[in-house]
Amino acid sequence: MFYPEDIVEEVRTKNDIVDIVSGYVKLQKKGSNYFGLCPFHNEKSPSFSVSPSKQMYYCFGCGAGGNAITFLMEYENYSFPEALQVLADRAGVELPKEEMTKEARAQADLRATLLEINKLAANYFYYQLKQPQGKLGYDYLTGRKLSDATILHFGLGFANKTSDDLYRYLKSKGYKDEILKETGLVSIEERGTHDKFWNRVMFPIMDVNNRVIGFGGRVMGDGTPKYLNSPETRLFDKSRNLYGLNYARSSRKKYMLICEGYMDVIAMHQAGFTNAVASLGTAFTSQHAMLIKRYTDQVILTYDSDGAGVKAALRAIPILKEVGISCKVLNMKPYKDPDEFIKNMGAEAFQERIDQAQNSFLFEIEVLKRDYNLEDPEQKTNFYNAVARKLLEFPEALERDNYTQAVAREQFIPYQELKQLVSRLSSRIVPGAEQTQPREEFSPRERKKEKEDGARQSQRLLLTWLIEDPKLFDKIEGIITPDDFREDLYHQVAQMVFDGHARGDVNPAGILNHFINDEEQYKEVAALFNASLKESLNNEEQKKAFSETVIKVRKHSLDEASRNASDIETLQKIIQAQSALKTLHISLD
Ligand code: UTP
Ligand code: MN
Repeated sequence: MFYPEDIVEEVRTKNDIVDIVSGYVKLQKKGSNYFGLCPFHNEKSPSFSVSPSKQMYYCFGCGAGGNAITFLMEYENYSFPEALQVLADRAGVELPKEEMTKEARAQADLRATLLEINKLAANYFYYQLKQPQGKLGYDYLTGRKLSDATILHFGLGFANKTSDDLYRYLKSKGYKDEILKETGLVSIEERGTHDKFWNRVMFPIMDVNNRVIGFGGRVMGDGTPKYLNSPETRLFDKSRNLYGLNYARSSRKKYMLICEGYMDVIAMHQAGFTNAVASLGTAFTSQHAMLIKRYTDQVILTYDSDGAGVKAALRAIPILKEVGISCKVLNMKPYKDPDEFIKNMGAEAFQERIDQAQNSFLFEIEVLKRDYNLEDPEQKTNFYNAVARKLLEFPEALERDNYTQAVAREQFIPYQELKQLVSRLSSRIVPGAEQTQPREEFSPRERKKEKEDGARQSQRLLLTWLIEDPKLFDKIEGIITPDDFREDLYHQVAQMVFDGHARGDVNPAGILNHFINDEEQYKEVAALFNASLKESLNNEEQKKAFSETVIKVRKHSLDEASRNASDIETLQKIIQAQSALKTLHISLD
């Protein structure tokens, strides 16, 4: 972390989480907390909570949780310093510049300068488009039926035929070769300096915060490559950005449309489908899928109808499923891509195709069928077998059966026979013996792991209880100290929670900040502070559970200590403590 803790805390405490989140999510007060629809996953009933007393948010649906700083980081895709800066500005706190390490400062400056140069370049290209020398590009775009408003909305531009005018322009603004090299906009070599893009229509690529991070350029005429893209730079990571997402993310549609190209995105947005995005001259990756998952869990693929498009769809489907996005495939025929389709058939017809989009599994089966000649009995059998094997992808019996029915219907396969084929295959692949392995056959290592998980679980549970109900601290006084939390993460949290309790001020959002650099830990700590066990300690069973948990944590801690003890004296103390534990009684009354 670049800033000292007290500054971070000052900024955080001067911003109320409810205010911050309200800027993005409609919240409603319920009891002492606020609830709304989670912005990090798609849901119909609110499971996203904001707690003014903890200064934290937590989603009971998807587990997203954190404080005001991380809310901005997650929602706006900001880095930690960026989020902190926004909150500092909001609260009128001056962030000390010199507190950053020199290297970090230099990095941040470099990023900011690169963004500045990209913005200048985008403006330059846009200006050229409207000049006489840019007429070629302007005519091209209007020839493709783009309106002036669309050209402005996407900031389209033109890179001149001159080989170094952008370079000279940027130099005139005072930028040094050293930094210009980093933008990917120019190449500076011994044999001369020239612009990377020339004689191309330019598509600035923006991140979700509308900052220009790179460019795509389409050649005028038939040159190659047809589209030239910025190289990956400090700013531009192709697998983490989607063209059009800056607009699509706030389109308020339940699903997103994924297509192949710049022109497709633009044509769709112009026709009112503002939920369209494209990956940028690269294949669709699981990072792309995760990015989309922040906004929706439904996608319609609108890839080209040619072989390459089908292949791209087949690749993307499992990647999307993997992150829990359900997808459908749109039939574009007889047109090649969304741009052509809309130009010829109009927006209404396109909407119809969206409504008729095919379930991705049925699409996969449809494509699979092309490999078989169903006139031939042997190939037909092979096809049925392949279908049955593919149906095994569904681990849930009910879902599998629903798909078996659907495939049988669509492919005219007798349902009962397909069902039998599937269950025969599944019994061959998943032998029953494996599922009912007797416990005794666990290896010692597995048993040890199970025991460790148990200890971990008790520590987590105890910590959650203590956070939720500070009165319990009295009950464990003299029995449990932070050192009894043997799991490193829980130990750190326990130390801060115990210290806070002693001061009379446990500060969940502040504690959370310590884990901001490790996503895994961060999530786990956020969950600790939000697991709701309330009222759970009212009945007898739960009281017993609490007392057992305390004993488990202490016992595990003593067992560990005795394993590590290096002298007799220590060991004796541990043994005494162990036998005292046997008669320990904790009363909650
Ligand atoms: P297409 O060749 O299908 O482009 O490539 P398109 O959108 O139909 O182009 P127009 O309509 O002829 O202008 C789809 C996408 O693949 C990437 C670009 O992102 C393009 O939009 N691509 C294509 C490249 O990165 N480089 C290329 O040489 C070609
Ligand atoms: Mn096209």
